[in-house]
Amino acid sequence: MSPLYRNDREDWKMRYLTFALGKGRLAKTALDLFEKIGITCEEMKDKDSRKLIFVNEELKLKFFLAKGPDVPTYVEYGAADIGIVGEDTIMEEQRKLYEVLDLGFGKCRMCVCGPASAKELLLHQEQIRVATKYPRIAKDYFYNKKHQTVEIVKLNGSIELAPIVGLSEVIVDIVETGTTLRENGLEVLEEVCPLSARVVVNQVSMRMENERITKILTDLKSVL
Ligand code: PRP
Repeated sequence: MSPLYRNDREDWKMRYLTFALGKGRLAKTALDLFEKIGITCEEMKDKDSRKLIFVNEELKLKFFLAKGPDVPTYVEYGAADIGIVGEDTIMEEQRKLYEVLDLGFGKCRMCVCGPASAKELLLHQEQIRVATKYPRIAKDYFYNKKHQTVEIVKLNGSIELAPIVGLSEVIVDIVETGTTLRENGLEVLEEVCPLSARVVVNQVSMRMENERITKILTDLKSVL
């Protein structure tokens, strides 16, 4: 065995496990959950910090916050071993990774929403415009499930604006409490699917770091 090879092996054993967390609502709940199983990262609690990556040297763990839709990308390419992300993002991104655990929080629904008057348009399979942050999910729903031809328009946020200002007849978006819809005179017209936060794992890490990852998943299950 060459010394180089031996060193590589040693490095591998000492390797950090890296977590990518979707910024925002899910990250805070995920960190609370990790605390319950003894995985802490004090550094991350400093709200004024502009640091992007946080380390727990003792446990050989690293954490970083990324935009939700980028989490599956980091995990597919192995830049993160484990990701915490909404099922909506997993469905939309279609990355090569293992989806291993439903965390049971971040519960919401993917819905077709719009003004009550748009119900008729859906019922009669009219050729309508659909605004969404989730073009793949919207396309799959309308084309494959409903067999309805629609025009899909991709937006990046505040999707509820679209039917109000006349960009589209309906939207496909996440509904959690329903407050945004209510306050803007819109309603749920059809439900596409329920959603929640998920743990995803890189396919190579799952083999190479199986013991550590399985232990974390088992511990998480025991506190859910
Ligand atoms: C999401 C979603 C809705 C809202 C639903 O937007 O797109 O707009 O939350 O939540 P509610 O049913 O509890 O009102 P988010 O806050 O993520 O921001 P965005 O508009 O930039 O997508």
